[in-house]
Amino acid sequence: MNTTLIQKYNIPGPRYTSYPTVPFWDAKGIAINDWKETAKRAFDESNAEEGISIYIHLPFCESLCTFCACHKRITKQHNVETPYMETVLKEWDLYCELFETKPRIKEIHLGGGTPTFFAPKNLEHLINGILDKAEKAEGFSFSFEGHPNNSSKAHLQTLYDLGFRRSSFGVQDYDPVVQKAIHRIQPFEKVKEVTDNCREIGYESVSHDLVFGLPFQNEESIRKTIKHTIELKPDRLAYYSYAHVPWIKGVGQRGFDENDLPKDDEKRHLYELGKQLFFEAGYVEVGMDHFALPSDSLFKAMKNNTLHRNFMGYSAGKTKLMVGLGMSAISDSWYAFAQNEKTIEDYTARVKKNKLPIFRGHLLTPTDLIIRKHILNLMCNLETEWNLGLSTKIKQEIIGRLSEIIEDDLIKITPNKIIVKEAGRMFIRNICMAFDLRLIENKPDTRIFSMTI
Ligand SMILES: C[S@@+](CC[C@H](N)C(=O)[O-])C[C@H]1O[C@@H](n2cnc3c(N)ncnc32)[C@H](O)[C@@H]1O
Ligand code: SF4
Repeated sequence: MNTTLIQKYNIPGPRYTSYPTVPFWDAKGIAINDWKETAKRAFDESNAEEGISIYIHLPFCESLCTFCACHKRITKQHNVETPYMETVLKEWDLYCELFETKPRIKEIHLGGGTPTFFAPKNLEHLINGILDKAEKAEGFSFSFEGHPNNSSKAHLQTLYDLGFRRSSFGVQDYDPVVQKAIHRIQPFEKVKEVTDNCREIGYESVSHDLVFGLPFQNEESIRKTIKHTIELKPDRLAYYSYAHVPWIKGVGQRGFDENDLPKDDEKRHLYELGKQLFFEAGYVEVGMDHFALPSDSLFKAMKNNTLHRNFMGYSAGKTKLMVGLGMSAISDSWYAFAQNEKTIEDYTARVKKNKLPIFRGHLLTPTDLIIRKHILNLMCNLETEWNLGLSTKIKQEIIGRLSEIIEDDLIKITPNKIIVKEAGRMFIRNICMAFDLRLIENKPDTRIFSMTI
């Protein structure tokens, strides 16, 4: 591990789950008619062949984990479920009115917050409500995020019966000291139980989320966490870099301070250690922060160059249109992004008025579309071709910005391609930043991003 390079390149930077990244979306926002037009265009161009994806944001959690940067609402009152679901179904109706033919659904992903906060019968009502107005596309793939502490056998069976075959569980860390600091008591037995239950029911892929860089983590605690993880052999693993962003409203990162966090090179060491232990256990690194067994569809997608990256991280498939339903959900029509209202109250009020609850968005320019493709190629395939249409001037400027990265032997530039070397993989966010014209033109004056390494 090269400590000097880590110190040099560990700067605030985007994770590139989209391009342009959300803070650089057009400050004027997107006109609702522009959003509708691009959504309709993407639908017409792709529904018959590949189908569309739906992301449903289910924001409730019973207890706050004090490291969490997701959009969530903490409550123990389960009477919030029904009104929320009805609003989501109403929002879906608004989209179905916009489309002229029946949607064919290729992917549904339930994210959160905690989808398994909802009672199984409510999840059934929600998914059936979506499917009532649509049909499943060939090779459809449905997945959900569950909390191990509340994903009962009934949840898992209900979702399986509805067609869900991939599950993903937040684990984060098994060490009691870390769990206490992040206010998330998460016994190994509970994770084992849900993982075993999924396998018994017939789920094709079980994924675990782990996070490195959490308070009080050290080499010994990470070794134990990974030993437990390998015992359960999840098909996929997300090994996220802890994003410390306490300045963002509503994240609730507290209960520890910066001194309790592993420092830059210590933190990177925890990643490298995890990576080595995952390799030894037969996992392969996929893109950034992800690992998969060679039998998993994410690995196959990487081999076939069909890996995609979106707001949820990496996915094995891509559709041109992704409709995001629920508070704070982001939709993507390839030509534009649109984000829903970030509070349940504002979201509900807009939908009740029969309006799509978009509060901000971005219509991509022709240059944005090219850069988007480059960044996706780099994040997913670790290389990109120059022939996507950038002007020679912009290309030369990008190469200029990459000069130190080239000198440090982290990438190779040929007349046709830019290829990330193995040593450059950990600096992939920095490499993408050289392409990020929006970031370069509007250097942020406050810290809005987590650190790149
Ligand atoms: C919606 S949660 C997963 C489902 C469920 N709520 C749970 O916690 O088990 C999504 C995942 O995002 C990751 N995550 C949340 N906050 C993060 C942060 N600040 N830095 C890195 N990863 C984070 C965690 O690994 C978490 O499991
Ligand atoms: S980590 Fe999961 S359960 Fe914890 S607050 Fe975040 S979304 Fe909720």
